[in-house]
Amino acid sequence: MKNKTYFTIKSIVTIFFVTVFMGCQSKPKKTFTINDIKVIPKPTTLTLEEGSFSFNKNTKVYVTNDAQLQAAGILLNRLKIAASLDLEVVKMPPSSNFIQFKLNEDLQNEAYQLNVNSKSITVEANSFSGFIYGSETLRQLLPAEIESQNNIESVAWVIPNVNITDSPRFKWRGLMLDLSRHFFEKDYIKQTIDRLAYLKMNTLHLHLVDDQGWRIEIKQYPKLTEVGSFRVNQEDKPWNARHTPKPEEKGTYGGFLTQEDIKDIVAYAQSRGVTVVPEIEMPAHVTSAIASYPELSCLEKPVAVPSGGLWPITDIFCAGKESTFEFLENVLTEVMGLFPSKYIHVGGDEATKTNWKTCKHCQKRMKTEGLENVEELQSYFIKRMERFISYKGRVLIGWDEILEGGLAPGAAVMSWRGVKGGLEASAEGHDVVMTPGSHCYFDHYQGDMDTEPKAWGGYTPISKVYDFDPVVESMTEKQAHHVLGGQANLWAEYVSTTSHSEYMIFPRLVALSETLWSPKADRTWEEFTTRLTPMFKRLEYQGINYAKSAYNISAETHVNNNTNVISVTLKNEFPNPDIRYTLDGTDVDNMAISYQTPIEITKTTTIKASLYENNKPIGKVFEKTFNYHKGVGKPVNYITKYSNSYQGAGTNNMNNIVRGSKNFHDGQWQAWIGNDMELVIDLEKTTEVSKVSVGSMENQGPAIYFPTHLEVLLSNDGKKFNSVGKINRPFNSNAEIVLKDFTIAFEKRTSRYVKVIAKSLKKTPNGGGAWLFVDEITIE
Ligand code: ACM
Ligand code: ZN
Repeated sequence: MKNKTYFTIKSIVTIFFVTVFMGCQSKPKKTFTINDIKVIPKPTTLTLEEGSFSFNKNTKVYVTNDAQLQAAGILLNRLKIAASLDLEVVKMPPSSNFIQFKLNEDLQNEAYQLNVNSKSITVEANSFSGFIYGSETLRQLLPAEIESQNNIESVAWVIPNVNITDSPRFKWRGLMLDLSRHFFEKDYIKQTIDRLAYLKMNTLHLHLVDDQGWRIEIKQYPKLTEVGSFRVNQEDKPWNARHTPKPEEKGTYGGFLTQEDIKDIVAYAQSRGVTVVPEIEMPAHVTSAIASYPELSCLEKPVAVPSGGLWPITDIFCAGKESTFEFLENVLTEVMGLFPSKYIHVGGDEATKTNWKTCKHCQKRMKTEGLENVEELQSYFIKRMERFISYKGRVLIGWDEILEGGLAPGAAVMSWRGVKGGLEASAEGHDVVMTPGSHCYFDHYQGDMDTEPKAWGGYTPISKVYDFDPVVESMTEKQAHHVLGGQANLWAEYVSTTSHSEYMIFPRLVALSETLWSPKADRTWEEFTTRLTPMFKRLEYQGINYAKSAYNISAETHVNNNTNVISVTLKNEFPNPDIRYTLDGTDVDNMAISYQTPIEITKTTTIKASLYENNKPIGKVFEKTFNYHKGVGKPVNYITKYSNSYQGAGTNNMNNIVRGSKNFHDGQWQAWIGNDMELVIDLEKTTEVSKVSVGSMENQGPAIYFPTHLEVLLSNDGKKFNSVGKINRPFNSNAEIVLKDFTIAFEKRTSRYVKVIAKSLKKTPNGGGAWLFVDEITIE
């Protein structure tokens, strides 16, 4: 890295806030220190100087062209709304109290320099984006109230004198919105563009095509939107439990962007320095297109736009027929007419190519082109599209599957299946954008599954996003040179509202922006968190429904199977978290115990815990009960064996006190597929028993269903069992992940053996195997 960040405190600046209304009245004095500067992403170099600059109604704006004025507008608009300061724009430089935008031809694209002194502010750049980023930095140097949607009085609009030289580490700093799985309107897309620019991000990738909806008007093929944009509404059912609609069923749920909408979005993005990259999927993830024009597929069979999950994806574009390519070239011609982006994304992921193996057109194509297998046919497909796109002066980009079978030299790759595709592509000389699922998939959970809204799976908390580096350690310098940057992807299968979309994007995008902009050597998670918390206030003023999951506490539990002592480690993502807890069921307050080392549990206990900041609780209250019931640690005889895939904690699983969470991979669940659970717990001596509870989970997406019947039977000899209670629970469709204890209570008996039978649904409504998940059989 050429530049190195250095924060120096030349002096402590003392200023007096002066109110501009109700006469002149001294306010408490404010001292600026380097700790008052909370800009994200962190500027490459920043020096604090003596003094400060105050915005007031006499402050002038000096620009020399319209582009500078437009970039300044981002700041001026905020000052007008939040500060009631409608600054005058002038063509000649005033002697003092002004902000000027000035061309500096020595600066790179997107770079800017900022000098703030007591008399004036100078923003220098050599590009429109550079001027925008200068404005955005000034916005973040002002008090958080500058983000307010209403005028706020009694705030001094003062910023410290600073010198900043700043430029991005990567040139691709992106976010992908999936408009297909759920459609999002133009206004939300424009709002998202503002938020990208705020964080100095420059790319919005729109996933416009997928199985569940075609989202862009194509004039030559009107059915793509008439048919392909709407599906049968099954939003009340879990994504993966929706039935396949019949082709003649009319779709009513969906929407699309008209070409006028797109022109508006693209123009808006240009005014914020953001490039909109369109993605037109091929050859798979296109059921919406095939529903509109069945002749595009090999089988030519009418299909409906699926209402939810579809896997595997076998109904794909036919790679044999010339008409497929004619269609795609016509579509892409309209798309390229709308999007000036250098890169055109063609998807390319997750095609199951079984139809290609039997289709006479595809087979003929393979023969005439000398292609050995269907992977090479996909390679032919993408190479052919690459020729067309590059002929039009653009660059093809696609998901890392486009590497399979060989890729045209000019094409770029988006690595999503980890970093492997990026390593391979960069070694072959392709440019790459890194979007590994592990760090960049914002459809993953960002906190404990038990308290988060249902997400696709995976666990990508903000600290992990901050850890992201698009350049992989093992890359050579040459490979690293091919890394354009990185991008977050928000797939929207489970995200149907703008507020939920905001929740998944923020604050993780704040972390991503810094990983893509700021020099790696000059930033740490620990220091970043001191700027992140103040950013939350700015997001709040912007009306963004950001997740506060980073404030929540999670627990790691270890049980000693010999002693049944449980050790609980409480954790939080922030460095040196101030966690306080109680063990007696009382609420956490200032009298609670300060967490230092793992908590040892030896008897029935409820842990309640909170993260504290400045002596106040923040985030959600953590609560977990450990119930030392009569069955703990007793031998369990399984009459039906659990699946090898979900063995939980082995034969200790059902009575080890530690409970399974909503994460069905957490190692605490035992599961049966297509089969009932039947087991006997030996209490080892006759024991008074009056209640048996069976913990279970329902998550219908991945085919996990509650039991349909439960029965408890008791015996003293382990041979002859008497039923003491039953529950019948008919199947219900359920879109949520639910944890539930099914309790059978009965008059107190003495018994040694407890048999529990839980009947499985066995088959899902779609006919696949149904899972039964059980953890902890509580005997009281
Ligand atoms: C992808 O997540 N299928 C690119
Ligand atoms: Zn075919």
